[in-house]
Amino acid sequence: MRSQQIHTRIAELKLQYGEELLILGHHYQSDDVIQYADLRGDSFQLAREAAASKARYIVFCGVRFMAESARVLAREDQLVIHPVPEAGCPMADMADRPAIERAWSALGDVLGDMNAVTPVTYVNSDVGTKAFCGTHGGAVCTSSNAERVLDWAFSRGERVLFAPDQHLGRNTAFKRGISGEEVVVYDPFRPLGGVTPEQIQSARIILWQGHCCVHTYFTEDMVREARAAEPKALVIVHPECPREIVALCDDAGSTSYIIDYCRRAPEGSVIYVGTEEKLVARLNAELPDREIRLLGRSSICNTMSMSTPLALLEVLEDLGQRNLVEVADADAAGARSALTRMLDICR
Ligand code: 13P
Ligand code: SF4
Repeated sequence: MRSQQIHTRIAELKLQYGEELLILGHHYQSDDVIQYADLRGDSFQLAREAAASKARYIVFCGVRFMAESARVLAREDQLVIHPVPEAGCPMADMADRPAIERAWSALGDVLGDMNAVTPVTYVNSDVGTKAFCGTHGGAVCTSSNAERVLDWAFSRGERVLFAPDQHLGRNTAFKRGISGEEVVVYDPFRPLGGVTPEQIQSARIILWQGHCCVHTYFTEDMVREARAAEPKALVIVHPECPREIVALCDDAGSTSYIIDYCRRAPEGSVIYVGTEEKLVARLNAELPDREIRLLGRSSICNTMSMSTPLALLEVLEDLGQRNLVEVADADAAGARSALTRMLDICR
């Protein structure tokens, strides 16, 4: 099918379904897919839109954890559809419920009372990880609200287990004045996470050893090279980047924060952005009076790139019949409490 035919047919189907259909698109989707989104956003905005939507069909153009979160937050009679079910997030796969349960029990052997530990999971996580957090009094956070959720968690108890992104966890802890010996990294593949009981006892935040392969590509040298090439340039990255990179930049924030930052920058600014390259290219095209450059040479999230207009059209042609997102009963209630706790904290 030619792209013009795909385009015409998607437009027809969107018109046919009207308000019964809501297409959500994450900022990392390609231009040829995100053009069909009724709403674009970062992970937090899209979760909130899914929770508030009245549409019968919610089609989520993004990766699996986003569609799963929408499923968990939507009403039972709504159908949530993910055009490319195999598009996951590699970082989300770095933790799962059995691994977190093992870690929780090992930490319990050292700390005794686990009531004083609050589990917090980044939204980029498996639904079982969210369910674990929800059933242990914890919450989900996103890159746009991690500080608020961490403050809430520390208002409940003295320690936090933060999964799966160690970098978002460390950057957020740092902003809250927690660093050095108060932060340990728990490696789920090593006995007791590869740390000593003393380290665990003196830690306030225990970070899961997970990371995003797209954002750990950025290096300190890339920031230095950008500043050398353009001394007046601004540099902003996503907080999934390691702490030492964030420390060299002018700012860090969620995808929506990065977009606002570029829009608010004075005309004529040169801004280097360290995040997924499709978003950076789109920003550069949308803001012709500023120069938005990618930090480094290439930063593609392969799974975000799996969505295509054809995949979207296929689910729209058989709307409600294919690629429905389902969440196991064992995980649904726990994941819902963790997600709604975040929405309540960030109201
Ligand atoms: P945002 O919530 O900032 O959109 O981030 C999602 C993500 O996957 C970043 O890698
Ligand atoms: Fe996951 Fe990283 Fe891709 Fe975001 S950019 S979806 S964290 S792999």
